[in-house]
Amino acid sequence: MLVAGTPRRTISLADDGWSVIVIDQRRLPHAFTTVRLTSVADAAAAIADMTVRGAPLIGATAAYGLALATREDPSDEALDRAHATLLATRPTAVNLRWALDDVRARLRPLSPSARAPAAYARAAAICDEDVEACRAIGEHGRPLVRKLRPGAGPVNVLTHCNAGWLATVDWGTALAPVYAAHAAGVPVHVWVDETRPRNQGASLTAWELGAAGIPHTLIVDNAGGHLMQHGLVDLVIVGSDRTTARGDVCNKIGTYLKALAAQANGVPFYAAVPSSSIDWTIDDGVREIPIEERDAREVTHVAGRDEEGRVRVVQIAPGATAARNWGFDVTPAPLVTAIVTERGVCAATAAGLRGLFSEAA
Ligand code: MRU
Repeated sequence: MLVAGTPRRTISLADDGWSVIVIDQRRLPHAFTTVRLTSVADAAAAIADMTVRGAPLIGATAAYGLALATREDPSDEALDRAHATLLATRPTAVNLRWALDDVRARLRPLSPSARAPAAYARAAAICDEDVEACRAIGEHGRPLVRKLRPGAGPVNVLTHCNAGWLATVDWGTALAPVYAAHAAGVPVHVWVDETRPRNQGASLTAWELGAAGIPHTLIVDNAGGHLMQHGLVDLVIVGSDRTTARGDVCNKIGTYLKALAAQANGVPFYAAVPSSSIDWTIDDGVREIPIEERDAREVTHVAGRDEEGRVRVVQIAPGATAARNWGFDVTPAPLVTAIVTERGVCAATAAGLRGLFSEAA
């Protein structure tokens, strides 16, 4: 996507041909800066501290992390160590395991000297494949961005968290159909859930929709049900960190409540899911998906820019307050109207997903 008129991806190889440049998403929307990753430790830290985030981008960064590792030491032991280090960074998005297993399996049969070039080539291909998958999700999802409620005005889409281009290599998952509809001349407006506690909606989704010139309105996380009751939402689209073989969708905490409100109000609820986010080894998302639990400080404190332009962290709860911070929840398949993938739109069922991905299932 364009940033100040220049096409950007969220991750790319530096001009030196080996180090990796990523956007520092912790600093958005207040500053657009990049960070250079030069080691597997850098890549692991960037995923763990959320310099990069979003399921597909986590996978792409991990793939480059293995390339950086094999450049330093192409042995089997170093490869396994790097795989374990990267896999331990965040538990929920399956793209991480998918990318790591894919790259390691390709490197294993190769001689040590062939491994680093092969790892870089595969990491670049994973990035290109993600861009193409997200572009195709945009095309398949575009017809779903249509007015279902009476009255004039744009199509109102509600989204949660950031599943735009910042969460992927380019285009995004949930926002790809919005970008495609906007490009096709469909008047569209997005309700952006702020997405407490880290506020990916307020800081990232609002920033990228603004950069793309797409009308949007930031709302508190609890507003969605009210808007749906009043006919102000035509459809909900979210991304997914892990979708099970039967179509349960795990996404940012709070997604499940949006799905319940959507069902109660007859609003279609779509999940936009590249196949790299499908975990074919599990069915029951509530029982089987590991849910990340993050630092309680993200609940008791918030970060923002003060009137002098300084970014500050302030406390919003009494000092001794106990807090818990689950990062994701699971929306059971029956609440999902349909899943939008790079191969088309299908029912959120085992048969629906198998129909599109017979080889994987
Ligand atoms: O904790 P984050 O910011 O990595 O969570 C991201 C999300 O929940 C996205 O919706 C998800 O990765 C799907 S996206 C492309």
